[in-house]
Amino acid sequence: MIDLQRYLPVAQQVQAVISQVLDSRPGTSSEYVQGWVLRGTPQNDVIFYAVLDAGRIPKPEPFERATHQISSALGGPRVYWGNSTGFRIAVILTPAKRLPRLIDLPANLPSGRALIGLRPDGQTAGGKWGDLKHIIVVGYTGSGKSITTRSLVYQAIRQDFSLILADLDGTTFPMLVEHPALMTPLAGTTDEFIGALQVALGELEHRAILYKRAANFPEKIEEYNQWALASGQEPLKRVLVALDEFNSAVTKTGGPDGKLGKLAVELASRGRKFGITLLLSAQDFSKEVIGAVRDEVGVMIAHKVNSENVARNVGVAAAAQISERTPGRAITNRWGQIQAFYLDKSHLMVGAQSADGLTPDEKLIAERAFSETEGKISLEVLMGWDMGQREARRLQDDWKLRGWAANDPQRANSVYITPKLVDLLTNRQARQTLTNPVQTRQTSLTNPTNRLTA
Ligand SMILES: Nc1ncnc2c1ncn2[C@@H]1O[C@H](COP(=O)(O)OP(=O)(O)OP(=O)(O)O)[C@@H](O)[C@H]1O
Ligand SMILES: [Mg+2]
Repeated sequence: MIDLQRYLPVAQQVQAVISQVLDSRPGTSSEYVQGWVLRGTPQNDVIFYAVLDAGRIPKPEPFERATHQISSALGGPRVYWGNSTGFRIAVILTPAKRLPRLIDLPANLPSGRALIGLRPDGQTAGGKWGDLKHIIVVGYTGSGKSITTRSLVYQAIRQDFSLILADLDGTTFPMLVEHPALMTPLAGTTDEFIGALQVALGELEHRAILYKRAANFPEKIEEYNQWALASGQEPLKRVLVALDEFNSAVTKTGGPDGKLGKLAVELASRGRKFGITLLLSAQDFSKEVIGAVRDEVGVMIAHKVNSENVARNVGVAAAAQISERTPGRAITNRWGQIQAFYLDKSHLMVGAQSADGLTPDEKLIAERAFSETEGKISLEVLMGWDMGQREARRLQDDWKLRGWAANDPQRANSVYITPKLVDLLTNRQARQTLTNPVQTRQTSLTNPTNRLTA
C-alpha cells in the first residue's frame, strides 16, 4: 500500500502552483476548482487531481491549454487533462518508472498469445495472435529489430506454427535454414521473397476452400479448427510470415504496386481470417509502403529510428527520441513505451544442437518412442514413463523447437517424433565419423517436412 500521507506536502505545493497558473491565465481561475483529490492507483502511482466544477466553468479549453504551463511550472512532472467524468487536471506525483535495459523473454509462454515486452508499470505488452492482426517492427541498425523479430518467431515455433521466412541480408534467420516448420526454403533474394509470398498465398487459397466445406462458416482459424476436430478433419496450424528488410524488398521490386507489394497487400488483407500473420521488419518504411498495409497492421513496434521522418511515417513520432544506448526499447501504438523481450539467438539454433545434441536420457526416450509407441510422445506417453508433467511438457517444447517433434494432424494432432530425430538416432554413429563438415550439413537436409510414417 502507498502511504498517501507522505505525498501531502508535495500535493500542497502542486496545489499552490496550479492555483497560481489558473489565476494568471485568461479564461481560467482557481475559483472553478471544486475539489482537490489525492489518490493511489493499483499500479502504485500517486495522482493529484484538481476537479473542476463542470457546471460553472465558462469553457473547458483554456483549462486544458493550461496543463502545459502547469507542467513547466512544476519542473516537468506529468500533467494530464481528463474529460471523461467531468473536467479535471491530473498530476502524477510518483516519479516516472524506469524500464530495465534487459528483460528476458519469459520461459513460460502462454499458449495462443504473443509476448512482446514490458511496460514501465510492469504490465505485459502482447496479446492473442488473432487480435494483434499483423505486426511491424521498425528500427535503425542496432536498435533491436532482429532480437524482437526472432523472439516472435521463436514463440511461433514453440506454439507449433508453420513458418515462411525471408531475409534479404541473411543475418536475421540463418540459424533457421533447416527448420522443419518452414513451408518453403528461407528466402534471400527479392525473387525468393516473391516465391515465398506465393507459397503463403497458395496456402491461403487452400484454406479458403477448406473453410467453405466447414459447416460453421468459420471466420477465424479457431472456429475452423473447432469444426475440424469435431468432424474428423485435420486442424490447421497458424502461419507466421516473417519478412525482414521488407521495405527494401518492396522498393526494389516496383514499390507497393510491384509484384511483391501486391502480394503482401493481398496477404495482409485476407490472411487474418485464415490464421496467417505477417511480421514485417525494416530499418525504415516509406510512406507508400506503410500506407499500403497500415489498415491491416494491429501492432507497430518502433525501436530507435534515425529520422523524424521515419518516425512520422510509422505514426510513432517519439521513436526518433529513443536513446541509442537502450537497444530493445520501443514505442508501440498499443502499449506506449516498452522494453521488448530479449531472446538470445542460441535458442533458435536448431542445426547447432541437432548434429550431436541428444543427451543419453533423450536418446533413451527417443528410442523407446520409436520402438514402443510408433513415435508418439504425448504427455500421457511420457508421464507413463515416469516423467513429471512439467518435465514432459518441457521436453516436448524443446524437441519441437529443435525440429525433433511435431504435432501430427494425421494422427489426432498428437505429438510425434520427426524423421529428423529418427535420422539422428540411426545415423548417429555414421555421422560422427564424417570429417567433411559440408557433407555433414547435407546429410541433415533430408526432406524435413515429411512426417514419420509408422
Ligand atoms: N530487447 C533487447 N534487450 C536488450 N538488449 C537488446 C535487445 N535487443 C537488442 N539488444 C542489443 O542490441 C544489439 C543489436 O540488436 P539487433 O541485432 O536486434 O539490432 P538490429 O536492429 O537488428 O540491427 P541491424 O539493422 O543492424 O540488423 C543486440 O546484440 C543486443 O546486444
Ligand atoms: Mg538485424
